[in-house]
Amino acid sequence: MHPNMVIHLFSSYPRRYETIISRLLGSWGVAKASAPGKLILFGEHFVVYGLPAIATAIEARTLAEVQRAKEFSLLDNRPETPGYKKEKCDQQLDSIQRMLKAMGLEGKKVNIVLGGDLVAASGVGASGASCAAIAAALNEEFSLGLDRDGINDVAYEGEKGYHGVPSGIDNCCSTYGGFIHFRKDIKAGKSVVRQLHSKASLSIVVGNTGLTSNTTKVVGDVRAKREKDPEKFKKIFDNYSKIAEEATVSVENGDLVKIGLLMNMNHLLLEEMGVSCDELEELVDAASKNGALGAKLTGTGRGGLMVALVTGEAGSRVASAIKKAGYHSEMTKIGAEGVKVIR
Ligand code: MEV
Repeated sequence: MHPNMVIHLFSSYPRRYETIISRLLGSWGVAKASAPGKLILFGEHFVVYGLPAIATAIEARTLAEVQRAKEFSLLDNRPETPGYKKEKCDQQLDSIQRMLKAMGLEGKKVNIVLGGDLVAASGVGASGASCAAIAAALNEEFSLGLDRDGINDVAYEGEKGYHGVPSGIDNCCSTYGGFIHFRKDIKAGKSVVRQLHSKASLSIVVGNTGLTSNTTKVVGDVRAKREKDPEKFKKIFDNYSKIAEEATVSVENGDLVKIGLLMNMNHLLLEEMGVSCDELEELVDAASKNGALGAKLTGTGRGGLMVALVTGEAGSRVASAIKKAGYHSEMTKIGAEGVKVIR
C-alpha cells in the first residue's frame, strides 16, 4: 500500500496524527495543489498606489507538486508564451527561496513540478498562481497548518521575487478565487479583499500579444513618470478613482454596457500613463471593431494580454478577428475557485 493511502485512510484523524503516521512510515509522498490565473478588469498600476481594483480568478490553473528530496529541483511543465519561462527563470528561483524562508523551511530540499493548463504569460497572473499553488503544496507536505490567509501571505512573499513590491492583487485572486474588489492599504501594508457578486454573467475574450513584460520595470517607469509630472498623474488618478467607483456599482448591478464603457476609459488612462504598446492597441482595436462592449490591456501592459467584454455572437467575432490579426485568443470563464489542495 502506498503511504499516501494511509494518510487518506486516516483523514478523519486530526492533522497532527496524520503527520506522525506518515513520518513513522518514512515517506511523505507528493503534495499537490492548484491555483487559478487572474485577469484585472479595472485598476492595474493604480492599485500599486492604494486605489481600488476589480479582478477575477479564471478557470485555467497552475498545478504544483512538491516532494521532499535530497537535492532541490524544479521542473516547469507549464504551457507558455514562447520565451516567458526562460525570461522569468531567475525571478522564479528567487521567489521559491523567499517562500521557503517565509514558511520557516529555509534550506529544505524539495522537488517541485509545475504543470496545469494556465499558460505562463504576462497579464494572466502566472506568477501569482504558481506562488499560491507552491505555497499550498509546501504547507501540505510539511504539515504547517497554514490557513488560506497564511498561504496568501507566503504567496505574496513569493510574488516579491517577480515584482519587487507588488500590490498583492495577483496572489489574492489566485488564493481566494472568485471575483474581487481589491485595495492595498498602503499604510498598514495589507490587502483588503471583498468578493463581488454581479447580477449578470460576464463573458470575456482574451488576446495575447505574445510579448513578455517585466512588471518591476514597467511599474518603476510609471513611478518615475509620476514623479516627473505629478500634475498630469493627479488628473489621471482622479479620473481613475471615479471609474473605479462606477465600475464597482456597474459590476454589482450587472450593467454590461456601462462596464464596457468604463473598461475603454480605463484603457485610455493606461495608455496615457505609457503602459500600452502597438500590439495591445491593435488587439483593443480588433475587439472594439468587432462588437466588444469594452476592451483594455490587463496586467502589467507593454505586452501581455488584452481583455474584452463581449456578449452573444460578438465573442466569436472578436476571437476570430484577433486570430486573423495573428495573435492567440481565448474565451474564459471568470470567478473560478481559489487555491486548493488535491488529495
Ligand atoms: C500586475 O498584474 C498588476 C500591476 O498593477 C502590479 C501590481 O499590482 O503589483 C501592474
